Amino acid sequence: MSPYRLTRILPLDATGADLRTDVLQGLGRDPKSLPPKWFYDARGSELFEEITRLPEYYPTRAEREILLARAGQIAAATGARTLVELGSGSSEKTRILLDTLPDLHSYLPVDVSESALTGAAEALLAERPELNVHALIADFTRGLALPGTPGPRLVAFLGGTLGNLLPDERAVFLKSVRSLLQPGDALLLGTDLVKDQGTLVAAYDDAAGVTAAFDKNVLSVLNRELDADFDPDDFSHVARWDPAHEWIEMRLRARRALTVKVRELDLVVTFEAGEELRTEVSAKFREEGIRNELAAAAMELSHWWTDDTGRFALSLSTPA
Ligand code: SAH
Ligand code: TRP
Repeated sequence: MSPYRLTRILPLDATGADLRTDVLQGLGRDPKSLPPKWFYDARGSELFEEITRLPEYYPTRAEREILLARAGQIAAATGARTLVELGSGSSEKTRILLDTLPDLHSYLPVDVSESALTGAAEALLAERPELNVHALIADFTRGLALPGTPGPRLVAFLGGTLGNLLPDERAVFLKSVRSLLQPGDALLLGTDLVKDQGTLVAAYDDAAGVTAAFDKNVLSVLNRELDADFDPDDFSHVARWDPAHEWIEMRLRARRALTVKVRELDLVVTFEAGEELRTEVSAKFREEGIRNELAAAAMELSHWWTDDTGRFALSLSTPA
């Protein structure tokens, strides 16, 4: 019998109710914005996987390089028996850890994307039938109750996804991660680093237009889930480096004046020509900043590793 289990932690109607609230608040605001987790329906998860293979999108390759170089050290430092991964997506890079942790008992991938989780869990179990994979469909910003599996526990948060939260949200999130850790447990965090603007902007505005399609996919989610009538062609994808906040800001800019109906919400939204809707930020970090944010959440950075060219960092932290 397969030990694979898929547990839905989202209350049954949570996805719908949250989307409604988020859209009402976000589109009612000036400037308009939408929270990033709505990118990841099945199509969004597929498009993200395509992004990870683009020549301009260096973070995935850089993080994989660090994992390959450091997995042995991570295994020795943590002795992890349970690996929890937040925002696990395809779990592709995670295989490096799964292959290297000698005493691993359970893998708990956590994601809002059910299609990404089932795809990842099925692929993993085909290769590792002995592993306990317990996939959780859950929003990692909502506090997590994890099944009781053997410790030590290693919580991985890869891909630079921390940077998709705003600073206040990061502080709350890191405290909730801290509450998952007992003495002897650890956090493995992947963060993209501040670098030249050209490299950064290209990573979020690729020549083939995959990131643009990903950005616009959120409009298709609203069309389908809330019976809205966005035409994605009415918007252009914009990626801008904000040097004050040290983040990339993704926006959708209305190509002309528009009126959009969101029928499920009885909402009519108007856009002026050139008006921009903020869809996502991707903050870039420095070692000092990460160390401080972790310390503020009662965690202590013990290892800091970068790839050869210093583009991306993987860090290991323990409860302070
Ligand atoms: N860790 C993978 C995927 C990164 S993309 C990698 O490094 O390649 C970000 C992932 O986080 C997506 O799979 C998305 O579905 C998930 N995600 C985004 N917001 C989330 C949230 N609030 N709760 C849980 N998962 C979330
Ligand atoms: N965590 C990824 C990042 O910040 C997510 C991402 C990559 C993304 N490309 C994107 C989000 C484009 C929105 C738009 O790099």
